[in-house]
Amino acid sequence: MNQLKQAAAKAILTKIGMLADANGTANANALSTDDIAGMFEYPPDPKMGDLAFPCFKLAKTLRQAPPKIAAALADGLSVDGISDIQVVGGYLNLFVDQSGMAKNTLDAILAQKEAYGGSEEGKGKTVVLDYSSPNVAKPFHIGHLGTTVIGHSLKKLHAFCGYTCVGINHLGDWGTQFGKMIVAYKKWGDRETVERGECDALVELYVKFHEEAEKDPSLNDEARAVFTEMEHGNPEYMELWKWIKEISLREYEKTYRQLGITFDSYAGESFYTDKMPAVVEELKEKNLLKIDDGASIIDLSDYNMPPCLILKRDGSTLYPARDISAALYRKNTYHFDKCIYVTSAGQSLHFAQWFKVLELMGYDWAKDQLVHVPYGTVSIDGGKLSTRSGNVVLLRDLFNQAIEKVSAIMDEKNPNLPDKEKIAESVGVGAIIFYYLSSGRIRDINFVMEDALSFEGNTGPYAQYTYARASSIVSKAEAAGIVGIDAPIDLSGVAVSEEENALIKTLALFPDKVKQALHEYEPSVITRYILDVCADFNRFYHDVQILSCEDACTRLFRVNLTLAVKYVLGNAFELICIQKNEKI
Ligand code: ARG
Repeated sequence: MNQLKQAAAKAILTKIGMLADANGTANANALSTDDIAGMFEYPPDPKMGDLAFPCFKLAKTLRQAPPKIAAALADGLSVDGISDIQVVGGYLNLFVDQSGMAKNTLDAILAQKEAYGGSEEGKGKTVVLDYSSPNVAKPFHIGHLGTTVIGHSLKKLHAFCGYTCVGINHLGDWGTQFGKMIVAYKKWGDRETVERGECDALVELYVKFHEEAEKDPSLNDEARAVFTEMEHGNPEYMELWKWIKEISLREYEKTYRQLGITFDSYAGESFYTDKMPAVVEELKEKNLLKIDDGASIIDLSDYNMPPCLILKRDGSTLYPARDISAALYRKNTYHFDKCIYVTSAGQSLHFAQWFKVLELMGYDWAKDQLVHVPYGTVSIDGGKLSTRSGNVVLLRDLFNQAIEKVSAIMDEKNPNLPDKEKIAESVGVGAIIFYYLSSGRIRDINFVMEDALSFEGNTGPYAQYTYARASSIVSKAEAAGIVGIDAPIDLSGVAVSEEENALIKTLALFPDKVKQALHEYEPSVITRYILDVCADFNRFYHDVQILSCEDACTRLFRVNLTLAVKYVLGNAFELICIQKNEKI
């Protein structure tokens, strides 16, 4: 579809130029092919064509009414691959030559395979992605699902479009909470219990600290003092801190393994401890630091924001200071063209504040190269989540539940499936990711397990089932010795049905969808697209005979169409971190 859009845009642009010359509105000549290509819309109803070009925006530059422009542009317009052009009001409706599109699309998919849908837009550019980044000593709960899967999906999308990507887990491994943890451990903990209980044992200690501190607030002072000593390198505390971090990471890594996620760097907040003094010095030199009640802050009232907090009264550093230091370090280390931060919308102000501070420090790149990608809250069956009380829904419990239920369904559907456990794990975890990534990221989500796991609804298991169905048809065709699978298509003599054309048209949209998901930082575009492909493919599968079709040319076309579906679904699954299974 992209190529067609470009071709149509080029032809329309030439027409616009002629029109502008004719009526003396030369400023219309400033438009580029990309401007025009970006104006196309997809009509909601196929009767209105496959692509529509609205002329409303041109009315001002060309000083003519949109319907008049549309008529003038359509007059004598011809585009390769477009079989008909109709003028309706201020629109040009373009009808794609179906058989040309069918051949081009299928040939492109079968030739590009795993690369189909991607692009080279990011060639030579580097993107740093900061995501997941849990706070050490706390378990991985459902609130982290968003940053982890949206972040990783954005990494996949960027890599698919040619960017060099650096995924960073900016672990929350520094701050007063470690003072609390160490005080609690020394008072009430022991090594063996923590080794055995991992994050759960750490959380218990953390919860106990808060309960006790309610009764005896001096515990908070003790914790602060311990953290200040950590910042000065106290060896006993640093040893404990390292151990606590290891225990937490052990647990996080289990979750990452299930999700198929790896990071290029685990440089968390603590990594910046020794880089902080230089940043504080620079802020002072640039006259940005102000002392307020003993603390060091940056006044942002000119920008309608509360002050950005850099140092506490006791001189220990704060979260924004570590982010400023990390951004400078990353710029110098990776020379990024963009650095993306994926966190809950609750941190939007934090990012707006310190992005502004970098700008005030004179780093112009902060304006357009630092991007915060926020997402909404998650609740389970209506209940909000919190960490403080220890009353959280753990990701590992959620995954285990999903895996168990999927196993039970699979036992019924396909009891003799080889490798059943592994498949149940990927379908169960995939169901949760799919459900989560089905809504726009900024929306608040209420998680309903039954809805996520159903094999019938618009779910991950349904999508994976469809993929397995396509895989099985292709393997059967191969086993039957059909010649010409996965090779350029010959459509002469094949009567392509309406369902088939609809499916091909949807497959042709994939590169556009990838681009949209990338530019909007919105993996849900891909999730919803997967559902479109599945719906079209299942309609095709139910309506026509594939392997038992008698006409050899038609049979080969249908097998190749099925293979194309398999490639596109597989590529789309990759982008949203869903594993592919040939059999379910
Ligand atoms: N650790 C933080 C949290 O769990 C998220 C860190 C996000 N990244 C960053 N560079 N601030 O809330």
